[in-house]
Amino acid sequence: MTRCASENRYPATGLEWSHSGPIRCELESERLVIRNYTLDDVEPLFEAINESREGHLLPWMTWCQDNHHTVESTTKYVCEQMLAVAQPMTFTNVGTGIFCKDTGRFLGGSGVHDVRPDSASCETGYWIRRDAIGNGYAREACARTISWALEEQSHGGLGLQRVRIYCALENAHSKQLIEKLSIRQEVHQRRDYVVDGVGVCDRLGWGVLKDEWDCKNHCVIPHA
Ligand SMILES: CC(C)(COP(=O)(O)OP(=O)(O)OC[C@H]1O[C@@H](n2cnc3c(N)ncnc32)[C@H](O)[C@@H]1OP(=O)(O)O)[C@@H](O)C(=O)NCCC(=O)NCCS
Repeated sequence: MTRCASENRYPATGLEWSHSGPIRCELESERLVIRNYTLDDVEPLFEAINESREGHLLPWMTWCQDNHHTVESTTKYVCEQMLAVAQPMTFTNVGTGIFCKDTGRFLGGSGVHDVRPDSASCETGYWIRRDAIGNGYAREACARTISWALEEQSHGGLGLQRVRIYCALENAHSKQLIEKLSIRQEVHQRRDYVVDGVGVCDRLGWGVLKDEWDCKNHCVIPHA
């Protein structure tokens, strides 16, 4: 996302991030558990996506347009995630589930995507099932996921140096969530990409560096 076409044309020496074991995500925050998917999550995930697809996940979550219309499709997704996290050498993205800590109810999805070993960076994203929005769960999950991405591997994190978040200008709820995290907006690409049913949208991008983020309190370090 937002790469320049001439990027990566020549081999370059970068940060050469790597991860030595399976990518285990077992996070807790005040009200949430955020963790890797297991086969037990197939049914709640399928149900949440199908309750939320029209007019909520769409138009923004394009992956659910053609996928998750059957339990088999959701099973395939969960199996792919389980395989991806078991192979850290080829790890580029992992979807994680967001659950209510008190009840165990499946609330939505988050994860890290487009992991780039050369710059030790990743993107993060999130969605919350329709009947659970407006509770601050997405913001809590996003902040906790940023801490996981930037935390040292010796403390259970991914040990990355930078996290990126993107959304369309037209996606007001997502934009508001990111703004409330107070991370730095870096990108505003006007009329940059097409979202089905919305038209040509502006792409907004935010970035946070390891030394700008408090991984204990899951927030920006003031004046970092
Ligand atoms: C974008 C999306 C995740 C936002 O969900 P959300 O629940 O509105 O987001 P937040 O977690 O930031 O919650 C914010 C709201 O919860 C309220 N809230 C209630 N309790 C809260 C608490 N304890 N902490 C924080 N906020 C709380 C806030 O006041 C705010 O309400 P407001 O919008 O009326 O001001 C959701 O709309 C969604 O899933 N959209 C579809 C998928 C999508 O677009 N994903 C992003 C792609 S870039």
